[in-house]
Amino acid sequence: MKDIEEGFFSMPINLPGTALNRAIKAAKLISKELMATIRQRRIDLQGHDLSSRKDFMSTMLLAKDENGQAFCDEDVASHLAGLLLASFSTMHSTITSIMKYLAELPDVYDSVFREQNEILDVKPKGDHLTWEDIQKMKYSWSVASEVLRISTPGFGGFREAITDFTYEGFTVPKGSKIFWTFDATHKNPKYFPDPEKFEPSRFQGNGPAPYAFVPFGGGPRMCPGNEYARVVMLVFMHNVVTKFRWEKLIPGENMIYYPAPRPARGLPVTLHPNKP
Ligand code: HEM
Repeated sequence: MKDIEEGFFSMPINLPGTALNRAIKAAKLISKELMATIRQRRIDLQGHDLSSRKDFMSTMLLAKDENGQAFCDEDVASHLAGLLLASFSTMHSTITSIMKYLAELPDVYDSVFREQNEILDVKPKGDHLTWEDIQKMKYSWSVASEVLRISTPGFGGFREAITDFTYEGFTVPKGSKIFWTFDATHKNPKYFPDPEKFEPSRFQGNGPAPYAFVPFGGGPRMCPGNEYARVVMLVFMHNVVTKFRWEKLIPGENMIYYPAPRPARGLPVTLHPNKP
């Protein structure tokens, strides 16, 4: 996935040793693996209908379009590869940044720890987290949101102007390609005073103004994985914070912002188990 992603943002030169060449090879490998899994799943699904299987691959294999036509294996593999790519660096960058900020800000860690233990304390020992538990993780979600604001895993996105408009004295004609950036949006002091400060309370109450905070984009092409991503982040925070404290081994570790923010040395930490 890392090779594919680097090829995505590379010069379009396909020669041995280039990022694009590595990406093409990696994409072929993933496609081969996906096709083998899909073929096996088709066999396993014989005699099943949509109601019996809930995972994405089975749903795609059992679904039919309005003409009763099923998706071919190549289409299913392409959709799955798209999801893997869209969720790869976005998720690992955000989760790594959550670990980084919780290590750097002990007060924030303590508040997340308190909230997660309050949830744990009223559950029978060993019970799994429920949807209701996730809804209670309000402070933890403010922390994850502040991570997404200050260290958004991406640059921004392209849009096309569907009508002529004027912005800050500039006329933008219909059909122009427009690039919106996370950094300028999320660090606008009008909506986020002292924008470089890590301040989860910005997300309490009504939270930021509409479209001031857009880590998942907006409009009809908004990230369809956003709710899933929220659950993954919160379940991760619950498990790691209730079990461990940690400290960074490289205090001033540099960050690389390509294609998503990540610590240059991989954020090595020492984990200290919390007493049960
Ligand atoms: C922290 C996690 C994530 C962030 C910050 C994120 C962010 C984004 C953003 C900014 C876009 C472009 C939206 C736009 O143009 O308005 C996008 C698109 C997309 N994301 Fe995510 N994403 C995350 C996780 C995921 C996950 C886990 C999945 C799938 C399981 C996913 C699937 C997709 C897909 C398929 C698109 C393309 C949607 C389209 O073009 O219609 N994302 N994401």
